[in-house]
Amino acid sequence: MKIVRKIKNDLYYIGASDMRLHLFENLFPINEGVSYNSYCIIDSKTCVLDTVDHAVEESFFSNLNCALNGRKLDYLIVNHLEPDHSSCIQEVILRYPDVTVVFNEKSYAMFQKFIDQPITFATHIVKENDILDLGHHKLTFLMAPMVHWPEVMVTYDMTDKILFSADAFGTFGALQGNIFADEVNLNDTFYAEARRYYTNIVGKFGPAVQAILKKAQAVEVEMICPLHGPIWRKNLKDFIHRYDLWSRYEAEDQDIIIIYGSMYNNTYHVCEDLALLLADRGVKNIKLYDVSKVDISYLIAEIFRVKNIVLAFPNYNGGIYPKMHDLLNDMQALNVSNKNVAIIENGTWALIAGKKVRELLLSMKNIEIIFEPVRIETTEKKANLEQLIGLADLLAHL
Ligand code: FEO
Repeated sequence: MKIVRKIKNDLYYIGASDMRLHLFENLFPINEGVSYNSYCIIDSKTCVLDTVDHAVEESFFSNLNCALNGRKLDYLIVNHLEPDHSSCIQEVILRYPDVTVVFNEKSYAMFQKFIDQPITFATHIVKENDILDLGHHKLTFLMAPMVHWPEVMVTYDMTDKILFSADAFGTFGALQGNIFADEVNLNDTFYAEARRYYTNIVGKFGPAVQAILKKAQAVEVEMICPLHGPIWRKNLKDFIHRYDLWSRYEAEDQDIIIIYGSMYNNTYHVCEDLALLLADRGVKNIKLYDVSKVDISYLIAEIFRVKNIVLAFPNYNGGIYPKMHDLLNDMQALNVSNKNVAIIENGTWALIAGKKVRELLLSMKNIEIIFEPVRIETTEKKANLEQLIGLADLLAHL
């Protein structure tokens, strides 16, 4: 026996969560799991919006069977082809041979890369603003290229004013019975994970997210059904506002974070002193992160959140400390922009890393290197402390 949760009227949640996966995309730690959302509309015609990852395939088909309650499946809409949402398409076609799969031109072409045979099942190709009539529900389609992949589209239910938003508005974290955002504690931890999902998965594609936000503004949206994380039916404005900031690469607050690499604690002690000096000047919520210990995905999320960043690192083999180098490469790849950055470098010989870090930072958009780089030669000296005081004075007044 299986039960599914009704979202509204004749719309059902048929996705499932994976609590066992350690790394999303085999890259990002997900200690709280992840959900793969799928939705089913029961109307004159029945319709599924996206499938799920293979890992939760069994639950998906049980849920679908329950939602259909003996009806046949008429449509499967493919909003996004990444395998965490498309893994079950072929199995859906096998189990429901009367189904028509709804693609757009790009996803139709791309799907052929997933299979080793010609497409023989029924398909329906849609373009921007086409309407699919399910009976009571009229669905329309908005193309959202690069809201993660080039073929992405979102589906808008004109009848119930629901946006099926693909990866947009997704978050990490399993759904545990509570499928609505207003049923869970939307605390800092929740938003930290939402931010970590956005910045690492979609962060590179800010302009594409801005484009779909503008399209969504043109229609009335009462509910957002993303492909990961909870469904939003209350206070949509707050979450949309965060998405707007993230996709414009604007900081959410003026907090200061210090990200350091330290082999023998000397660089760490410098950062500790800087934090004390900042606290003395009334700065709150200072965070120190060890680049060697904290997964890059968390650091990227924090970098997106704040305006002011201190990077402190030792020289290493005549270059940048490897973990800091990895972080800088990821910042560059994800188009991190609009930050104030201060540099602290440390080395016993051949101090060159500060110059290289500066070059990397200046290759990013609108990064301001504030204050002269603080150069430590092995351990903090009196002259360094004076520099730190100057840096703290400056940071405290930004
Ligand atoms: Fe959740 Fe881009 O796939």
